[in-house]
Amino acid sequence: MSPEDLNPGDVGPGSEVAVLVRGLTKSYGNVHAVRGIDLTIARGEVFALLGPNGAGKTTTVEILEGYRHRDGGQVEVLGFDPGRQRSRLKQQTGIVLQSTGVDSYLTVSETVAMYAGYYPHPRPVEEVLELVGLTEKRSSRVSRLSGGQQRRLDVAVALAGDPELLFLDEPTTGFDPSARREAWQVVENLAALGKTVLLTTHYMDEAEHLANRVAVIAGGRIVAEGTPATLAGRDTARVVVSYRLPDGVSAPPEFGGPTGPEGRIEFMPDDLTAALHRLTGWALDHGVSLDALRISRPSLEDVYLQLTDSASGAQPAEASSKSKGKRR
Ligand SMILES: Nc1ncnc2c1ncn2[C@@H]1O[C@H](COP(=O)(O)OP(=O)(O)OP(=O)(O)O)[C@@H](O)[C@H]1O
Ligand SMILES: [Mg+2]
Repeated sequence: MSPEDLNPGDVGPGSEVAVLVRGLTKSYGNVHAVRGIDLTIARGEVFALLGPNGAGKTTTVEILEGYRHRDGGQVEVLGFDPGRQRSRLKQQTGIVLQSTGVDSYLTVSETVAMYAGYYPHPRPVEEVLELVGLTEKRSSRVSRLSGGQQRRLDVAVALAGDPELLFLDEPTTGFDPSARREAWQVVENLAALGKTVLLTTHYMDEAEHLANRVAVIAGGRIVAEGTPATLAGRDTARVVVSYRLPDGVSAPPEFGGPTGPEGRIEFMPDDLTAALHRLTGWALDHGVSLDALRISRPSLEDVYLQLTDSASGAQPAEASSKSKGKRR
């Protein structure tokens, strides 16, 4: 069964659905942050929400966490309504908020142990620290951690209760490249344990690497949904062939013309195989080398930018980002 085929009644203990959202709306005064979102996330899936600043990602995620009240629509998370059954839901979910802060006078392991204490079946503290790569910092005070290490601690706190479902709102913002890779490993480990992960990110490589499926939100609506490889027809989009020619040589018009300052020549063939055959045949016949020949399809970032550009044209000015305060 694909996640799209699932209905509200399918959600519940033992069900295949972790998150089901239908027609979700939320406004802050006259700011319509979420304007009718539908989402279905299967158990064991890693699902990423993408979208520009102010698109409504955090609002959506925080409603699913039970942290914010919705105005309208139906929401079920692990079979619970987060609006009415938040405390029951909390026992099975781990949360990394976009902005967060833990008490800085505690040590790393004291912090994780404290949060573990809130849960009926916590994961051993040492195991959690190992999972997030903070074992060596276990005795450090939180105030002495770097920004990236504090973010890892946020993830550790979310894992303390050994949750079934994790909400990670921009979990790797501020991470250096190797810390990001390690965080990806953490998410992969969780996925391998069969946990469900809902994350938001501004990094397309992160979504591509981690997510089974992604949804792009713009102006409070989902504008596209699919696997990272197929989003918005990426897999079937026409390919671009590009190459460079030696100085003074030009190709027949059917093989494109120079674009951009580098003098790279581009064209979009209808039939890639035939076009490449003709192009390389022409090159061989004329003793020309096709430097840096490249065949590319739109990247996830290309389709993301296209989707969010066209969606933002239709949005009112009110849908801008807010500044975020620290909170717990
Ligand atoms: N507490 C609030 N009070 C008033 N407006 C809010 C509040 N929280 C969010 N908004 C507004 O709702 C809209 C959606 O914000 P949200 O934080 O959900 O966006 P986001 O997609 O998470 O953005 P970002 O990528 O910047 O984190 C924005 O216009 C924002 O200014
Ligand atoms: Mg956000």
